[in-house]
Amino acid sequence: MRFKLLIFIPLFMILWSCSGGDDSSISSKMQRQIENEPHPGEKLIEKHCYLCHNQESQEDGRIGPPMTHVKRHYLDAYPEQAEFTKQLISFVQNPTEDHSIMPGALKKFGLMPKQQFPKEALDQIADYLFIHDLTKKQQSSVGGNSKDYAELGLEFALSAKKVLGQNLMSAMQSEGPIHALEFCNLRAIPLTDSMSQVHNVSIQRVSDRNRNPLNKACEKETEYIRSFQQLITNGKDADPIVIADGNKSIFYYPIITNDMCLKCHGNPEKSLSEKINNLYPDDLATGYSENEVRGIWKIVFNEGN
Ligand code: HEC
Ligand code: HEC
Repeated sequence: MRFKLLIFIPLFMILWSCSGGDDSSISSKMQRQIENEPHPGEKLIEKHCYLCHNQESQEDGRIGPPMTHVKRHYLDAYPEQAEFTKQLISFVQNPTEDHSIMPGALKKFGLMPKQQFPKEALDQIADYLFIHDLTKKQQSSVGGNSKDYAELGLEFALSAKKVLGQNLMSAMQSEGPIHALEFCNLRAIPLTDSMSQVHNVSIQRVSDRNRNPLNKACEKETEYIRSFQQLITNGKDADPIVIADGNKSIFYYPIITNDMCLKCHGNPEKSLSEKINNLYPDDLATGYSENEVRGIWKIVFNEGN
């Protein structure tokens, strides 16, 4: 009996160590994958935060403090990851002066506008911020060699958004919404056109409820808008849609409303509304609320460019 057990033990150990060996090779493979794959928060922070928190912007073009400063303040105040995450997310979901721990930034830039971000994205962003050394790889993940159209498109869409957004915001701040309306009327298409030339692609904004007749979405595009809207409504993060069309690739990505857009796309006040109707007798672009898909970026890449 005892003899049998002695034989059994080494046999068992061999079997055990075999399967143990397998396990560890799988887990080291996973480990490698984890190390090679970028943290999901990296893309999300580019998409949602760097529009205003980019460190590469020139000092005078900045909308908000560089993310490295934000991270430093939050790490100093909340060295524990759980508390860091909790405080960061609760500020982003509901920015208030009382909640701010960056009085200098508050004074310089004004309170961060309230925006809606998918909760899952904020969790990833907070995790990425806590773990990663932002100064090492400063927002360069859209600068790699093997870019696909989804990545390139996103890069162009975000930079076009930035140019339009900065111009719109300064027009609103300096001379009010009527002037800003004239700015959009005269400058929106030329601005996206000029960016198209820089990148040698065509960049457009189209909408199912368009203001300018030139920006009307076709039937297929209206479907994309609906599917983006569904994701956004469910609090999900939308990924770009890329369609191959003959020798072209077409990129689509949603344009989402925030509080500021509602001045002209929500329920515009009377004088503004008259002006809009004058300029755009067939306007469909009012009645929006926050966090709705106002339209989509449409970027056409010609193969062989
Ligand atoms: C439209 C511009 C804009 C976007 C987009 C934006 N922020 Fe901000 N954010 C600001 C401005 C302006 C400030 C500085 C004023 C302040 O502190 O409220 C700020 C401040 C902050 C602060 C510091 C708050 C404090 O004062 O303690 C945190 C944290 C923050 N942002 C996180 C984020 C994250 C995370 C994202 C992306 C999910 C993001 N922000 C996207 C404009 C923006
Ligand atoms: C000051 C008024 C004003 C504000 C604020 C404003 N828009 Fe517009 N928007 C316009 C005008 C005017 C046009 C038509 C531009 C043109 O003729 O090319 C337009 C066009 C658009 C279009 C192109 C599709 C279409 O309907 O012609 C999109 C998309 C859009 N706006 C999104 C937004 C978003 C998102 C915001 C907030 C971040 C915003 N707008 C804020 C006035 C405004």
